[in-house]
Amino acid sequence: MKRTHHCNELRPAHIGQIVTLSGWVHSRRDLGGLIFIDVRDREGRTQTVFDPSDLPKELFDRAASLRSECVVAISGKVRPRPAGTNNPRIATGEVEVAVRALEVLNMAEVLPFPVDDPEVASKVKLRLQYRYLDLRRPEMARNLRTRSKVATAVRVFMDEQGFLEVETPTLFKSTPEGAREFLVPSRREPGKFYALPQSPQQFKQILMVGGIERYFQLARCYRDEDQRADRQLEFTQIDIEMSFIEREDIYTLIEGLLRRVWKLALGKDIVTPFNRITFEEALNRYGADKPDTRFGMELEDFTGQFRGSGFKVFSGAVAAGGVVKALNAKGLAGATQGQIETMTEYAKSFGEKGLAYIKVEGGEWKSPIVKFFTDAEKAGLTQKLGVEEGDLILFAADQWLAACEILGRIRLYCAEVLKGQGQLTIDPNRFDFLWVVDFPLLSFDKEQNRWYSSHHPFTAPVAEDIPFLTSDPKKVRGQHYDIVVNGTELGGGSIRIHQPEVQKTVFEQVLQIPPEETKLRFGYLLEAFRYGAPPHGGIALGFDRLIAILCGTPSIRDVIAFPKTAKGTDLMTDSPAPVTARQLRDLHLEVKTGKKE
Ligand code: AMO
Ligand code: AMP
Repeated sequence: MKRTHHCNELRPAHIGQIVTLSGWVHSRRDLGGLIFIDVRDREGRTQTVFDPSDLPKELFDRAASLRSECVVAISGKVRPRPAGTNNPRIATGEVEVAVRALEVLNMAEVLPFPVDDPEVASKVKLRLQYRYLDLRRPEMARNLRTRSKVATAVRVFMDEQGFLEVETPTLFKSTPEGAREFLVPSRREPGKFYALPQSPQQFKQILMVGGIERYFQLARCYRDEDQRADRQLEFTQIDIEMSFIEREDIYTLIEGLLRRVWKLALGKDIVTPFNRITFEEALNRYGADKPDTRFGMELEDFTGQFRGSGFKVFSGAVAAGGVVKALNAKGLAGATQGQIETMTEYAKSFGEKGLAYIKVEGGEWKSPIVKFFTDAEKAGLTQKLGVEEGDLILFAADQWLAACEILGRIRLYCAEVLKGQGQLTIDPNRFDFLWVVDFPLLSFDKEQNRWYSSHHPFTAPVAEDIPFLTSDPKKVRGQHYDIVVNGTELGGGSIRIHQPEVQKTVFEQVLQIPPEETKLRFGYLLEAFRYGAPPHGGIALGFDRLIAILCGTPSIRDVIAFPKTAKGTDLMTDSPAPVTARQLRDLHLEVKTGKKE
C-alpha cells in the first residue's frame, strides 16, 4: 500500500477517489458501532471511518485493537462528512475516508505522554528525553520546517549576492576569543588538544586573505558557557565575511537578508534601513546594549540634581565620579514586597547595598528616603519622570555603566510584571530592529586589572581613535555593530584589523598577551596579514535565535531538533557519558574525580 496523498491534502474535490494515507494513529474513537481513526503525518490529519457492514470482521477487529501512535497505511474512498459533522479546525475537515484496507506497519506501546497533551509544552524534561515523540507535535514540526525553509532562503540570498559557502574545520585550536572552549584530546600527540571553534572567526578572516572575498556559512559553534533560554552549548550562526567593504555594506546586506527572511517566514514587509543607536545612548536611555524599544519606561539622569544632596547614598555616588539614574514604572506602586525584593536582588548582584524606590500612593510619596529630599529635588523628579499617582520610581546610584545596567534589568522586569497585569500590551507582530553602534573597543576588568576586548581582539578601532590605543584605551571606539530585535541580540560583527602591526599592538600592548603567547596562538594570523590582507569585515547572526523569533517562541530549544538541557546534558542519549579506561589510555588522559562511575 503506497501513499497517494498526505494527511493534510484531501478536500471536497477529491470526493469519490480511492486514496492511500500513511501515518500515525492520532486518535481512535468507537462510536455508534463505527470506528473513527484520525491518521496523522507531518502535514496534518485526516479522519478515516471503519464501518463493520462494509469490512471483513478480521479487519474491523484489527482497527479496534489500534492504539494511539501505531503506524498504519489506510486505503479507502474519499466522501463528504455527514451534514453537521464538519471539523473547521483542520484543513481536511470537510471530508473523510471510508476505509477499504488497513495495513498495520508497526504497533506502539503506551506513550510516556500523549502527543496531543495540551500541558506538554511545560514538561521540558519529558520532552527532551523522548524528543522523537515531542517532534511529532505539530508545533515542533512547524518550527523545524521554518528552520529548514529559512536556511534555504538564506543560502539562495547569499548566493545571489555573490557569496561562497565554505566549510571551516570544527577541530580547531584553543584561542582566547571570549567563551570557555570544549577541548578534544589528541591521540597522536600526547598532551595536545584541539578545541571546538567558538565561531569560525579566524578561518573566515584567513579566507579573505585567501582571496575568497565573500564567504558565508551556516556554521556550528561551540561555547562551554552557562545555558539560558537563548543559549546552547552548540548552536548555529549565519556567519559572513566580506573584503573591500565598510560598515554600511554590512548593514545593507543584513537588512536585505532579513527583509527576505521575514517575507518568507511571516509574509511581512519589514521597514529598512533599520534605526541606529550608539552604545552610549542605548545604555543611557534603556540601560542595555540590546534595548527593547517596543515600550518606553526610559531611564532619566539626575546626577546634577543630587550632586549636593543631603541623601548621602546619592551625593556620595556622584562625588565618587558616578551617576544617579531613575526610571518611572508607571502604575506599579502596588508592587508586592516580593517584587521589590527581586529588583533589589538585581541591584545587589551589581554590588549595591540596596535599591532606593518611591511608591506614589494615596497622594503620598512612600519611601524611607523621601525625608532626605528637598522640595526642589522632588519637583525635579516629578517634572522629568512625569510622576503621578500609582507610579513606582526606582533609583540606581553608581558608576555610569553599573547604574544603567541595574535599571536596564529592572526596566525589563517591570515590563514583565506590567504585562502580566494587563497594564502593558505589546503587539506580537511588532519587530523593532536596531543597529547598536560605536561600542567601546575595550572594557576594563577590575579584578584582573587589565583591558579586554568588548567583542573580540580582531575588531578594528575607529581610525581616528587608533592613536589612543595605548595612551587612553577607554576612549577608543570599535568598528563593531550589533543587530538587535525586540531586545534580543540577534547578531554582531565588525570591520577587522587587517594591518599586522595594529593587530600585534592590540594583542601585546593593549591586551597584554605576552609576545611568545601571541606567536603561539595567533602567529599564523599575523603572518597571513603580512602577505597581502585585504581590508575586510563581517558579522554573525545567531541562526537559532533568528528562528525562535520567527516562530514566536522564547526558547531556542524549541527550534533545535536535539537541544541540551540547562545543565548541558542530552537527556535522550544520556550524554555526556563515561568512556572506557582503554579510550582514556589511548588519549593519554587520566580522570581525577572524587566520584566513582
Ligand atoms: P558573537 O559572539 O557576538 O560573534 O556571536 C554572534 C551571534 O551568535 C549568537 N550566539 C549564540 N546563540 C546561541 N547560543 C549561544 N551560546 C550563542 N552565543 C552566541 C548570538 C550572537 O549575536 N565571530 C563573531 C562574529 C563576527 O565578528 O563576525 C561572533 O561569534 O545571536
Ligand atoms: P542606606 O543609607 O545605606 O540604608 O541606604 C538608603 C536607601 O538607599 C536604601 O533604600 C537602599 O536600598 C538605597 N541604596 C543604597 N545604595 C544604593 C544605590 N547604589 N543605588 C540606589 N539605591 C541605593
